[in-house]
Amino acid sequence: MGTITINEMASPSAIYISAIDFIDIMPRFSILLPYCYLWMPFKILIKGDVMPLKTPVKIYLNEDEIPRQWYNLAADLPTPMQPPLGPDGNPLSPEALGAVFPMNLIEQEVSQERWINIPDEIIELLYRWRPSPLRRAVYLEKALGTPAKIYYKDESVSPAGSHKPNTAIPQVWYNKQFGTKTITTETGAGQWGSALAFSCSLMGLKCKIFMVRISFEQKPFRKIMMETWGGKCIASPSSETEAGKSFLKKDPNTPGSLGIAISEAVEAAVTDKSGTTKYALGSVLNHVLLHQTIIGLEAKKQLQKVGIKKPDVVIACAGGGSNFGGLAFPFVADKIAGANIEIIPVEPASCPTMTRGIFTYDFGDSAGMTPLLPMHTLGHNFIPEPIHAGGLRYHGMAPLVSQAIVEGLVKPRAIHQSECFKAALKWANTEGMIIAPETSHAVAAVIQEALKAKEEGKEKVILFNLSGHGHMDLAGYSKFMEGKLSDWELPQKNIEAAEAELAGLPKAKAVKTGKW
Ligand SMILES: Cc1ncc(COP(=O)(O)O)c(C=O)c1O
Repeated sequence: MGTITINEMASPSAIYISAIDFIDIMPRFSILLPYCYLWMPFKILIKGDVMPLKTPVKIYLNEDEIPRQWYNLAADLPTPMQPPLGPDGNPLSPEALGAVFPMNLIEQEVSQERWINIPDEIIELLYRWRPSPLRRAVYLEKALGTPAKIYYKDESVSPAGSHKPNTAIPQVWYNKQFGTKTITTETGAGQWGSALAFSCSLMGLKCKIFMVRISFEQKPFRKIMMETWGGKCIASPSSETEAGKSFLKKDPNTPGSLGIAISEAVEAAVTDKSGTTKYALGSVLNHVLLHQTIIGLEAKKQLQKVGIKKPDVVIACAGGGSNFGGLAFPFVADKIAGANIEIIPVEPASCPTMTRGIFTYDFGDSAGMTPLLPMHTLGHNFIPEPIHAGGLRYHGMAPLVSQAIVEGLVKPRAIHQSECFKAALKWANTEGMIIAPETSHAVAAVIQEALKAKEEGKEKVILFNLSGHGHMDLAGYSKFMEGKLSDWELPQKNIEAAEAELAGLPKAKAVKTGKW
């Protein structure tokens, strides 16, 4: 036991330390035990520490708590998804996908296993930023005066700045195992392209990226990011592929679209005679959504750490569906098992694939080079308005998300970009971060739900995915603040035109149990 002496020669700080020692030994006098608790706040104040918040605003997992398996919703969907079809309208064999993807990823694409092990080498690569923090948006809650508790997974902490590396890392790893030397891909806002370039650089593969022209022009810094990681970035449509040339011929001033960029990237992969070039997709497909479930699985563990058994509302923005599926699918599993959770994918009102699109078979790209997938679609020739959420301008939706919508397990919502940018400014001026325009769609829906909880006087737990930061998207913020952004509603005649275009393709059946 230390003695408490105040040395005449001691400096004021030594006296201070002795006083702290005194406080430290107080609990050793058991008779005084009840009083020790009264001492604690004084001890903290004397030491100059900040009192811990009643509510933690950052909830971390240790590295050894990272999930070791991905969750596959296909195993639990109450009505199974319909298979992808070939150009002849017959179900496609896994082997037929082999020209485009490596076989190990095709196995994941068609898997019906509920849990799929994550190889240790992939976990080691993911440790660079995972587990990602779960945060509580107490400052926004206060500003809104809502009784709701708003939690969010912060995926902006990845090196590329979004959720996209969660699948880029495994896709490149499986490709490398298979012997692939070059990977081609498309990118909208540039988030996926930079995630893939980053992952290829870690594992020594070449990366070629077709970037939707309007984003290429709006976001020059994304191109530099891709190049920094050794990727080659080309504006799409380009004159490098037959598909690109044909779209340029139709409209030399086209802003491009994800559908066109996918056609170019697939063509570039399948026409490489060496057979060592494969294509990678940043969203939509089952294996991509599978890899992203690490987000929701981590979130579940983190919510449990603060005593929350389940959220009441789960929200994420959806472009091709992987960001949404990644957070939401582990909770969709709970809903299938009986939990009462509202699950909301959010999209732009100008690209309303889920809320106004048609559920049927359609191509994933504009030139009709991909298999036909059962999904909500605005038609593969859809050229979206050049809104600033480039990653949400895709004509289709992941078949897994589409089937969950048909089943009623998830309820999509469309929001205009001005409401989203308003929400992004509110977020920046409360929580602080400048979020991606895609993410602002989720935040706008979170604000809607938090205000609803206020009206109802309910202390709901809202969980959402902060899918990326907006540091490369400041041009969009600037236009919004200058009042130069307008909202655009997709005219009904465009939906009718899509219906006519899709009439010649096989129909998907909207089968559901009717339970939700
Ligand atoms: C920041 C951000 N959030 C969300 C999305 C939508 O992604 P997904 O296709 O996974 O739905 C994107 C797409 O690029 C994005 O960049």
